[in-house]
Amino acid sequence: LNELLGVRSIVLVGMMGAGKSSVGKRLARRLNLAFADADTEIEQAAGMTIPEIFAHHGEPAFRDGEKKVIARLLEHGPMVLATGGGAYMNGDTRDAIARHGITVWLKAELDVLLRRVRRRDDRPLLKTENPEATLARLIEQRYPVYAQADVTVVSHDVPQEVMVDEVIDALT
Ligand code: S3P
Repeated sequence: LNELLGVRSIVLVGMMGAGKSSVGKRLARRLNLAFADADTEIEQAAGMTIPEIFAHHGEPAFRDGEKKVIARLLEHGPMVLATGGGAYMNGDTRDAIARHGITVWLKAELDVLLRRVRRRDDRPLLKTENPEATLARLIEQRYPVYAQADVTVVSHDVPQEVMVDEVIDALT
């Protein structure tokens, strides 16, 4: 797989709670590749947390930073890159990912996502009256776009190392 990748990166896309960061970290370790998390890099570049960026600068500013950070990271492949759930919705970002990487969509059912996002409280888009309805709406908007990924792996509740095996299988 490493030979097949060359300088290209493995880019994980999908909804919040799909497991992009946790699976990505383990996948990178398994393949002996560097790992980067776009959300973490944005936070470091901004010197603020994501909720703070949304609150102080708004979502458009966040999206702009996200696009730049991902473009910069992709120049430094090969690596495993976990992106934020909205990143792949941006056409420029999709093009950059297609040029520099192989895209893996971690696809999960609404109930799986809902259970997982409830464990963490740092997603500004889910600060709504009805997070379930919000997630359902995002799924509807995003799944047709995520479907452009090179491979799709269904994210379900198995040990994360098993998810890593499934990603590697899908890529080889
Ligand atoms: C977002 C997902 C988050 C983060 C931001 C917006 C989204 O990343 O980038 O809160 O639009 O789906 P995760 O997918 O890692 O939670």
